[in-house]
Amino acid sequence: MNHTTPRRYAIVGTGSRARMYTRALTGTHRHLGRLVALCDTNSTRMAAHNRIVTEAGLDPVPTYPADAFTRMLAEEHVDEVIVCTIDRTHADYVVAALEAGVDAITEKPLTADLEGLHRINRAQARTGGRVTVGFNYRYNPVHLRLRDLVASGAIGEIASVHFEWLLDLRHGADYFRRWHRDKTQSGGLLVHKAGHHFDLVNWWIGARPVEVFAWGDLFFYGDANGRRHGLAADYERGHGSPGAQDDPFALHMSDSPDLTSLYLDAEHEDGYRRDLNVFGPGITIEDDMSVLVKYDTGARLTYHLTAYAPWEGYRLALTGSRGRLELDMTEFSHTTPGRDETHPVRGMPAPKENTRARLLLRRHWREPEEIPVSVGEGGHGGGDAAMLDSLLGRTDDGIRPDHADGGNALLTGLAANASMSTGAPVRVADLLAEGAR
Ligand SMILES: NC(=O)c1ccc[n+]([C@@H]2O[C@H](COP(=O)([O-])OP(=O)(O)OC[C@H]3O[C@@H](n4cnc5c(N)ncnc54)[C@H](O)[C@@H]3O)[C@@H](O)[C@H]2O)c1
Repeated sequence: MNHTTPRRYAIVGTGSRARMYTRALTGTHRHLGRLVALCDTNSTRMAAHNRIVTEAGLDPVPTYPADAFTRMLAEEHVDEVIVCTIDRTHADYVVAALEAGVDAITEKPLTADLEGLHRINRAQARTGGRVTVGFNYRYNPVHLRLRDLVASGAIGEIASVHFEWLLDLRHGADYFRRWHRDKTQSGGLLVHKAGHHFDLVNWWIGARPVEVFAWGDLFFYGDANGRRHGLAADYERGHGSPGAQDDPFALHMSDSPDLTSLYLDAEHEDGYRRDLNVFGPGITIEDDMSVLVKYDTGARLTYHLTAYAPWEGYRLALTGSRGRLELDMTEFSHTTPGRDETHPVRGMPAPKENTRARLLLRRHWREPEEIPVSVGEGGHGGGDAAMLDSLLGRTDDGIRPDHADGGNALLTGLAANASMSTGAPVRVADLLAEGAR
């Protein structure tokens, strides 16, 4: 491969997450790749991205409507496309790229449903193209250290994984203001969010899910819960609503130049409202989920995700034949939607805790040993920066998650969703066979 010619990238889905890739390709990583085109259903958001391009001293790149995606790949001689659209649509763009002989990096999740997973797998097998999934958590230095310890045999063969993940009221609530709240768009939090966590477990212990059981509820958000807990305020959306002024859960987009240019100014095109009342009607995802997973290695996972917690972070314990690894992580509370802007959720107290990690190795018959770990700078504990180096750097670091990794994480979430609706455990092989019919 010729490393002197920058690879030609196009981005489809020019919302909030895509800005990281636009900035990298026009700034920190421009020696590795060139941004050559943008594609979205919304031209105002593409224009906002092109302002990032011009602020970096480059010419604006051509923009294409969603139905011209394939034409864009050909006209702009795209080598690799970066998919940052809403989850349900990932499969459409990954498949169209593969069919056009173009590689695809897709934001997580791989896609949001079984049908999309099968389409991606078939297209990948047919074309041999490369699919990468943006599981940035793998690149967090603490998670890499944990993986090294497990691979070195520090705790022997692993039988048990205990994993609790907490999303606080800033971060957790944000999934209930917009498209994520609709299960058909996001697959629910067990696909959209826990997919990161299921991928970490698969990767740490080198295993694939075999059987899944889950329970889940909408306990905190939504209109009935808001009334029951005395939290509901009477408004449909934050922007321009007198009833939202004193609600600590309301998002005030006009307080943030970024939210205004990406969403408020773009609404007239597609009616996408980013600031719905989290205690309003129409939410079809869960906010409290318990999952049990059995793996092909014989290991078992006990997992819980809570999206309405007073602090953000997670607790993990891996127990094996020679000991146990315990990780306690407090994450910098997520500001909506990025750390670099005015916080538009008025009335919510500022985050008090910085990211803090404590990794403990407890070997049989020995004193516990604290493993020194440092959390990286930037988004997702340094995971975002390291992931960009890996994904855009084209080097094979053995970490880069592919379509099979994305599929295994997705299948855990989809099997959990199926289990929640039937009340019975779901075998992943049965789910796959059902989806293939
Ligand atoms: N890895 C991470 O840490 C992380 C963090 C945030 C978001 N994400 C992922 O990034 C993706 C985007 O999330 P976001 O927060 O930027 O959402 P967003 O709503 O800000 O942006 C989504 C964009 O997709 C566009 N879009 C919608 N339907 C489309 C279609 N059919 N064709 C083309 N464009 C379409 C929208 O107009 C919008 O510009 C999601 O898949 C999400 O899971 C990952």
